[in-house]
Amino acid sequence: MDFWQTPCKSKNGNVMYYENVLAAIGKTPLIKLNKIAKDLPGLILAKVEAFNPGQSAKDRIALYMIEQAEKTGKLRPGSTVIEATSGNTGYSIAMVCGIKGYKCILTVTSKASAEKISLLRSMGAEVVVCPVEVDPEDPRSYYMRAEQIARETPGAFYLAQNFNLDNANAHYHTTGPEIWEQTEGRVTHYICCAGTGGTLSGTARYLKEKNPDVQIIGVDAYGSVLKKYWETGVYDKGEIRPYKIEGLGKNIIPDNMAFDLVDDFVKVTDRASAHRCRQLARLEGLFVGYSSGAAMQCVFQIKDRLKPDDVVAVLFPDHGSRYLGKVYNDEWMKQQGFLGVQHPTSQYDNIKRAYKSYRIKYQRYLRQTLGL
Ligand SMILES: Cc1ncc(COP(=O)(O)O)c(C=O)c1O
Repeated sequence: MDFWQTPCKSKNGNVMYYENVLAAIGKTPLIKLNKIAKDLPGLILAKVEAFNPGQSAKDRIALYMIEQAEKTGKLRPGSTVIEATSGNTGYSIAMVCGIKGYKCILTVTSKASAEKISLLRSMGAEVVVCPVEVDPEDPRSYYMRAEQIARETPGAFYLAQNFNLDNANAHYHTTGPEIWEQTEGRVTHYICCAGTGGTLSGTARYLKEKNPDVQIIGVDAYGSVLKKYWETGVYDKGEIRPYKIEGLGKNIIPDNMAFDLVDDFVKVTDRASAHRCRQLARLEGLFVGYSSGAAMQCVFQIKDRLKPDDVVAVLFPDHGSRYLGKVYNDEWMKQQGFLGVQHPTSQYDNIKRAYKSYRIKYQRYLRQTLGL
């Protein structure tokens, strides 16, 4: 099967269809953010990866990596595909394996939501849940368990999305060209969450090749090692602590993370990202995942650097349905202390709004008093 097929047409030309669900991967829309971005300079466009059939950007890498492995003979009929995944990649791998007839075994951390784990099992994957609190080198970690299962399973192919450079290559060949063409080369900023670094680096490589001035902004979590490594070249285990956003940030340095392409790394909090996520649903009708809220929060944190002519592409990695029990659940939000107390960014916005209205009233008072 050719990669990124165009829809098939029947002989009489009336029936348009895809050969199978995999052919519907990619070519996701860029959607203008209107209300949430109304006070931000520039044109703010969301690359909404929830439009992929597996509802996340990981469809792109699963299909690309599996097809590259087939081409190089690493995958053969009857093989088992194994991966350590926080959920989305697993869903996409399970989908591709289902269509192509491979068995799929996934290790996930106990941080993955119950919905994500059920989804993986529904798609036919075997799921092994591993503790999140252990070091990556610990034999119980989801990385080490995946490696162990790969060693013990005859005909296994360990996808290794952190280290298999076909992860970033998938985005180099698809997401990058899409954003470039959709913006007619006018994109000035690309804002993207970093986990394995594939979505950020592959797309960034393409955009920088087209125009080295495109600003590449990585989004990282407090509790991840990526930003510090980018700043200092030091892998600092002291940075590692638990956080809530799924998919964003890392406790290892993945080979797919091309630090040299990044112009800035911005850290965002669990709380601000959760509120942005809910705003995106309410204000833009975009029911997107927690890390999309993180990417949106990053746009707000860099807004002072943006100019009116800028064209900002911000990538939203997945769909909100996988977070119904988390950011979209008031009880969960309260348990985290995210609801009930005012969000610092909105406090700042309120003060700014109050000051603006005071200034307008004061100017009106001066005009009336002085008869101007
Ligand atoms: C929801 C979500 N957001 C962001 C990311 C980060 O993408 P990448 O691994 O390409 O850096 C992931 C990756 O697992 C993810 O699942």
